[in-house]
Amino acid sequence: MDLHSRFMTVADLRRAARRRVPRFAWDYLDTATGTESTARRNRAALDNVLFTPSILDGEVAPDLRTMLLDRQHPLPFGVAPVGQSGLLWPGAERLLAREATRAGLPYTLSTVANATPEEVGPETGGDGWFQLYPPRDEEIRHDFLARARDSGFRVLVLTLDVPVASRREKQVKGGLVQPPRLTPRIAAQCALRPAWSLATLRSGMPRMKTLDRYSQDATTRDPTAHVGYLLRTAPDWDYLRWIRKFWQGPLVVKGVLRSEDAAGLEAEGVDAIWVSNHAGRQFDGARGAIDYLPGVRAATTLPLIFDSGIESGLDILRAIASGADFVMLGRAWHYAVCALGDQGPAHLMEMLRRDLTATIGQLGVAHPVDLRGKAEFANPAPTSE
Ligand SMILES: Cc1cc2nc3c(=O)[nH]c(=O)nc-3n(C[C@H](O)[C@H](O)[C@H](O)COP(=O)(O)O)c2cc1C
Repeated sequence: MDLHSRFMTVADLRRAARRRVPRFAWDYLDTATGTESTARRNRAALDNVLFTPSILDGEVAPDLRTMLLDRQHPLPFGVAPVGQSGLLWPGAERLLAREATRAGLPYTLSTVANATPEEVGPETGGDGWFQLYPPRDEEIRHDFLARARDSGFRVLVLTLDVPVASRREKQVKGGLVQPPRLTPRIAAQCALRPAWSLATLRSGMPRMKTLDRYSQDATTRDPTAHVGYLLRTAPDWDYLRWIRKFWQGPLVVKGVLRSEDAAGLEAEGVDAIWVSNHAGRQFDGARGAIDYLPGVRAATTLPLIFDSGIESGLDILRAIASGADFVMLGRAWHYAVCALGDQGPAHLMEMLRRDLTATIGQLGVAHPVDLRGKAEFANPAPTSE
């Protein structure tokens, strides 16, 4: 059976990935916060967006090319920032950056990745996206932006939906600490996952490498507190203005749900807005992320990027029909890499491309944005107020 018959859905990739990643790392990848009800609502809210198939449209060739921030992408999706990708699968950051760039899709490197901007930037051909968790210290902030720019990152993504740490109970119980320590319990989990363990032995214990050079500035040697000290700022509008002033390239703000915030961000000169509830990892009492899209769409003319729970081409069309211009996926790329290694990214891209083509072909339109205004809802529609 060829790969596309064996792994036809993101759920297939997830099942295979789970069998190859040790428990403590899996719990980091696959955990939301609280009872994980926001994560479940993400799925339910996507499923609530429906279309009615169309007939007698003749040959309609799908056109999935999409412009975003002055670049044309062949497909309307890309790679969301995922911290510690290299813990999930060794070398995942560079692999995803290289494969996404080769396919003409944007790759976003997380502040808390296991590879530095200097290592990953060259893989993005000068077109990378760098995600910033807002550092408290102004000098460190400066340094992050200079490193990102000098390493070939064109777009800055400022993530603002982590003003405090979330509890992520399952992740904590899984035993992951910073940097990961080989306790007897973790060692036993690794022994059950030999492919991951061998690859990790070869590349070394993953750590949040981008933060290395600031270690001596930390007020504490406790590594968990250290990350918190550096990055866990609760920024305000002045902070945003500072970033806007110092970053000359396109600036995207990630984690926006309220329409009034979107309007304010547009007024401050932000270039795009990323609607996301962080896949339910930060707050367990929010609506499904897609339910916020119509409201944000009505409040701003800026390009909208969307993530949280996307699993298929149909989901991508649902987001675009609800107001998004572009869609990002986080976990799905990592399921693909953990399940299929080097072949994972290209496999996921092709799977989503096939699903997009098969689905849009039922709807009588060529381009996903032609679906705007055509979505129907199984349960009452989200309001745009
Ligand atoms: C394991 C993991 C780590 C993440 N780390 C970051 C991060 O470092 N920065 C960030 O802005 N978002 C981070 N996110 C959130 C993603 O960028 C994205 O919003 C979310 O995963 C999208 O939902 P999806 O995984 O259902 O596609 C992380 C998500 C996961 C699953």
